[in-house]
Amino acid sequence: MAAAEVGPSLSLRGVSHAYLGRTVVDGANLTVAAGEVVALVGPSGCGKSTLAHIAAGVIAPLRGRVERGYRRHGMVFQEPRLLPWATARHNIAYPLRIGGMKRGERHERVTAAAARVALDAADLGKYPVELSGGMRQRVAIARVLAVEPDFVYFDEPFTALDVALKRRMQDLVIAAARAAHFGALFITHDLMEAARIAHRVAVMDVHGRGISGERAIPGQPGQRDDGELFRVVTAFLRDDDLFRHIHDVDERRLA
Ligand SMILES: Nc1ncnc2c1ncn2[C@@H]1O[C@H](COP(=O)(O)OP(=O)(O)OP(=O)(O)O)[C@@H](O)[C@H]1O
Ligand SMILES: [Mg+2]
Repeated sequence: MAAAEVGPSLSLRGVSHAYLGRTVVDGANLTVAAGEVVALVGPSGCGKSTLAHIAAGVIAPLRGRVERGYRRHGMVFQEPRLLPWATARHNIAYPLRIGGMKRGERHERVTAAAARVALDAADLGKYPVELSGGMRQRVAIARVLAVEPDFVYFDEPFTALDVALKRRMQDLVIAAARAAHFGALFITHDLMEAARIAHRVAVMDVHGRGISGERAIPGQPGQRDDGELFRVVTAFLRDDDLFRHIHDVDERRLA
């Protein structure tokens, strides 16, 4: 079925938010179609995480409407947020156990999710402290995939990883999104990452005025070669005013 026929997975209309009286997001509009991956980019401190938290229902917006057409979401953050006392397998199984799933089904779900992110049986027996940063992030992604979400929020999940590992993780996400048909809001500072992973990129305004514009990325995630991606990103940065502030830094956060 075409995405348009099933309605959007996520729709934000005129969403505004303030912390301690200071407006950080004002009048944000954003729609994500079912199965669509939208990258959300913008300079540090412009309100990307805040908008994702509002979209996911973690915080209530001061104003505006949030409509969620998806059934179940998952969240992946920059830090894997694993339970240190539990093995990788038990970390992945944790939300399923909390949800009351029987042991046998849990085992199958965990094994399938782990396979999607290329974790093997030996990895699953290890504790977080015994895993590399990239492996821990795989466990965090497997934990999300195991609940079979139809929507995933990614908040800069690969920022702390080196370039080669980042690419590998991006490829895993692209493949998982396609295989499991989940839609996603993928926050990143890295335009190249946005262009690889997403169908569309939305840019947040540097002054917290919401989404200042959106651009479709030609082609499909996973099917664009490096040359194409390089051309798209270069054109965005060189010729497109929308991306003018993308590498700005909010000095208030560095004080
Ligand atoms: N709980 C909070 N209380 C007060 N101010 C906050 C809170 N969370 C975020 N802020 C402020 O709101 C603004 C937007 O923060 P947010 O974390 O949404 O930005 P961001 O775009 O995700 O930044 P980054 O790219 O650095 O993660 C920032 O100025 C931040 O300092
Ligand atoms: Mg953030």
